[in-house]
Amino acid sequence: VPHEEVDIPLYFGWFLLAAVQEKIRCTSMDFLKTLDTLDAFKKHLIDFTGKPDKEVDLEQYYKSKGSLHCTTKFCNHGTVEGSKDYAQNTAVQKAYGSVSELSLTALFVTPRTVGARVSLTEEQLPLWPADAEKEAESVVPAAASLPRGSRAHVTLGCAEGVEPVQTGFDLLQILALQKDGQQGEPLEMELGSLMYYSEGRWMLTLREPMSAPACFSSFYA
Ligand code: A2P
Repeated sequence: VPHEEVDIPLYFGWFLLAAVQEKIRCTSMDFLKTLDTLDAFKKHLIDFTGKPDKEVDLEQYYKSKGSLHCTTKFCNHGTVEGSKDYAQNTAVQKAYGSVSELSLTALFVTPRTVGARVSLTEEQLPLWPADAEKEAESVVPAAASLPRGSRAHVTLGCAEGVEPVQTGFDLLQILALQKDGQQGEPLEMELGSLMYYSEGRWMLTLREPMSAPACFSSFYA
């Protein structure tokens, strides 16, 4: 049918069910509130403010728009390379409309974005585009050497003037630094262990991953 040929969405992804969105927003707000009060964070405030002794209210710092999701393939209605192949992929068509559990294993913040890392299961990985990490190489040079699915995330908020595509780049950058090793001691918190990765990058690896039921689907408009 010709109609199907052109009917490619803005993006494909897993869309978190409404009840769990609320829970994740609360958890991330709690995390931001706690982070803001930590001496370790205050010591590096300049990463966020650009000026010493200037305060930042992390709960106000990021704006969140739209409903929570984990983008698999950004298609921009077919203008992005590989969009059509992705839309026609058997695994994609088979999974379309099905609900599975996303495992959110870490929360991270940078001066640009706040997000949750998604650790994909063996069943979910076939829906992840093979080139998603490599595509980020111009922004994060080490990205292509990270395992498939490393870029998977849920954007929870962006600083003023920052586009959500940045969240995946920020995650990849943190994972690349993690892989290099040589970080300081993590700070043990109730939710998990918190690590600083220089230049305002923080990641909280959750003690208990959050399980989020999500529907694999697409977004038009
Ligand atoms: P993310 O997946 O990090 O949230 P926009 O509103 O800018 O059109 O983006 C729609 C969605 O597609 C967002 O969820 C966004 O980021 C994601 N996205 C936008 N541009 C890209 C891109 N070039 N590559 C991958 N994902 C993108």
